[in-house]
Amino acid sequence: VSARSQRGGFPRHVAIVMDGNGRWAEARGLQRLRGHLEGARVVREVTTCCRKLGIPYLTLYAFSTENWARRATEVRGLWALLERFLHEEGATLIQQGIELRAVGDLERLPPAVKARLKQVMDQTRGLTGMRLTLALSYGGRDEIARAFRRMASAIEQGRLHAREIDERQVARYLDTADLPDPDLVIRTGGEHRVSNFLLWQIAYSELFITDLLWPSFSRAALRRALVWYAGRKRRFGR
Ligand code: FPP
Repeated sequence: VSARSQRGGFPRHVAIVMDGNGRWAEARGLQRLRGHLEGARVVREVTTCCRKLGIPYLTLYAFSTENWARRATEVRGLWALLERFLHEEGATLIQQGIELRAVGDLERLPPAVKARLKQVMDQTRGLTGMRLTLALSYGGRDEIARAFRRMASAIEQGRLHAREIDERQVARYLDTADLPDPDLVIRTGGEHRVSNFLLWQIAYSELFITDLLWPSFSRAALRRALVWYAGRKRRFGR
């Protein structure tokens, strides 16, 4: 809440919709999973780059509630890829001082992914170099519905009163309770859609859409988004 109504400067929280892996692969006559594999490489590159630039919060949309409806092979492949990422990157995250967190309906995750995720989150808890949040089995509406459920049971148990519910209270029941709202949302793949990503949290975010497909996104493209953001004048509706 520090930087109200001013030129952007550096964003504190960057959130990314990593779209276009499938198209990238299909354009090359490759399997869609090859696109996701290439996408995971870009995740590593962008994470390291944000860490070096001193961006405190990076949130990546890795698997949406809608993605469950894809073909079983692609769903399985994506989770296998995420599990591998968590196995391979744990040490790097620790070395770079990156705290890993996740938002989404984590109960739905395949058990092996859930277990490994918990392990890496425990190992990186309290690291202060950067917070990397993965949105996994995540949908903005689903998150809000789950927050309603938690609020309703808090009311049932007498821990919360209806008259106390305001924007701050709602935010406390979301998965992102301890994250600032994104300042900048980047979407690759050229679609001008929000796609159920952080619906509550992006109320005043700046949106940067690039036609680059996620596997083609790069440090240079990230820099372009940051320069664009720095030139935005944010008024927060005032
Ligand atoms: C959208 O591309 C991307 C996804 C559904 C998955 C995102 C996953 C990764 C970038 C790789 C793994 C992530 C981590 C954190 C290691 P799409 O398949 O919808 O592309 P399309 O629109 O071209 O079909």
